[in-house]
Amino acid sequence: MKKALLIILMLFISEAYSFQEEKQLRALKQAKTFYDNLTPLFKDRLKFKPIIPDIIKDLDSIQIADGPSTDAPADQAELKKLFKNTYGQPVCDISKGKSGDIHRKLKVGMILSGGNAAGGHNVVAGLYDALKEGNKESCLIGFKGGAGGILNNDYIEITDELMDMYRNTGGFDIMGSGRTKIETSDQFAQAYKVITELKLDAMVIVGGDDSNTNAALMAEYFKEKKSDVVFVGVPKTIDGDLKNEYIETSFGFDTATKTYAELVGNIQRDAISSRKYWHFVKIMGRSASHIALEVALMTHPTWAIVSEEIKEKKLTLIQVASQIADMVESRSKKGFNFGVVLIPEGLLEFIPEMGVLISELNDLLAKHGAEYAKLTDFKSQSEFVVSHISKAAGETFKTLPENIAKQLLLDRDPHGNVNVSAIETEKLVSDVVKAVLKKRNSKAPFSAVHHFFGYEGRCAFPSNFDATYCYALGRTAMILAALKKTGQMAIVSNLKELAEHWHAGGFPLTSMMNMEKRGGEMKPVIQKALVELNGKPFVYYQAHRDEWAQGDKLFAFPGAIQYYGSREICDQPTKTLLLEQS
Ligand code: FBP
Repeated sequence: MKKALLIILMLFISEAYSFQEEKQLRALKQAKTFYDNLTPLFKDRLKFKPIIPDIIKDLDSIQIADGPSTDAPADQAELKKLFKNTYGQPVCDISKGKSGDIHRKLKVGMILSGGNAAGGHNVVAGLYDALKEGNKESCLIGFKGGAGGILNNDYIEITDELMDMYRNTGGFDIMGSGRTKIETSDQFAQAYKVITELKLDAMVIVGGDDSNTNAALMAEYFKEKKSDVVFVGVPKTIDGDLKNEYIETSFGFDTATKTYAELVGNIQRDAISSRKYWHFVKIMGRSASHIALEVALMTHPTWAIVSEEIKEKKLTLIQVASQIADMVESRSKKGFNFGVVLIPEGLLEFIPEMGVLISELNDLLAKHGAEYAKLTDFKSQSEFVVSHISKAAGETFKTLPENIAKQLLLDRDPHGNVNVSAIETEKLVSDVVKAVLKKRNSKAPFSAVHHFFGYEGRCAFPSNFDATYCYALGRTAMILAALKKTGQMAIVSNLKELAEHWHAGGFPLTSMMNMEKRGGEMKPVIQKALVELNGKPFVYYQAHRDEWAQGDKLFAFPGAIQYYGSREICDQPTKTLLLEQS
């Protein structure tokens, strides 16, 4: 009997083993197919060697000291209760010194989570190379498709051969990404089971505010269970809204803004050449306007809407459109019947009446989603909505064009966010401008063209800045993991200087949190960093925008991201970073 059981067990193990082997082979085959079709630039980018900051170059001369203690920006008492084991940790400072643990053999798991951002593969490379450098027997596994891969125990092991086909490339396809949230107690228990059964020493979570909130919750959950698994976050998001005085920028912001700025510059060149179109360009970035603002700083458009300013001034949609209509008329008097207007994709949430409507819709769909899902036609959907939200929000809903109303009702993501990328705000704004001009009996010609720049900026070849920054972030994550600093986000700072002089360390995830309403309930979440109206980037834009709005020769044309040439051309960080750190 015992023998039979043993045979069954061995068969089971060998089957599981061959299934994993097959997955590895499939991953390699996919990468090789890409490799066979590579362009000369692609092949050359694989060979790019990111500069390693001096402070983390030699793993044998590294130590971590406690930096200043930190506190959450708000709701400290609630957070202290929720994060009994991990709240209030100090900042980690990496400096030159000695630390024996750096060479311990580690088995590390990682996920790439949420929206893609250029440089993700270099976080993997930086982490992988540092692990192997620390101890040849260390290994890195990547869970497939984000947190869902943890729950499904679906992963691949990163090998030299696989890694070398992804270095310095855009995308997250080495292991895929996803937006699954580990939320219920069953999911936490399942994640605990998978991670402990795989005998992982650490988990590296590469993600934005929502994914790193998850990292903080997992760090706390594992600590509570007396587990030694270390959780380290890495700041990723093109949106640029994951930052504070220690985290200077999230990765992907640099490449995305440079990609969009190239495209906006090209459109501006077309506009001054053909002199007949008003271009309305919606730019990705979710709630915060950092991307639109950075693109404006790089391109000097006719106008860039900054959502945070709209909220501060409590402007209505008509007021926003009237400002643009004024420009259409005054430029027309000079013969400039063209212009370029940048619109952050999250604008609608910041227009007070729309913000109230969106927040009520989020709550409604979180509470009555199942009931709502049964309705199939727009008429019954809108009747349901109007009868379940406040009278004022209902009135706003009824005034919306049907396409926008439908887009506001699309599925929320697992974190309860409205899908702002799917809302055609650029068309809405230009339609209202047209209506305002018509009401004024304006004679100014107004021919609108619409664009949405989003996905094309998330997976470009990472700029040299992002390639180098991400490699350093991956290496820093390894150091934090080896030295058992759980609940920290890997940070690399002093980014306005050359990479050799960058600093590295960790920032406690819980010190970035506050309590927010999500899906109708108050939850701990990492606070989004919105554009500060007294911050240097916005103040600079404000000081120049009226001049840019009236000129026809003031557009700037940044051109394509450059990978080869002087460091001044290739390695410059964003204007936002330079202004903020100046
Ligand atoms: P993250 O916050 O996950 O980094 O995502 C950023 C983003 O690109 C937003 O700018 C955009 O609104 C959203 O993802 C689009 O989501 P999806 O990829 O699910 O369409």
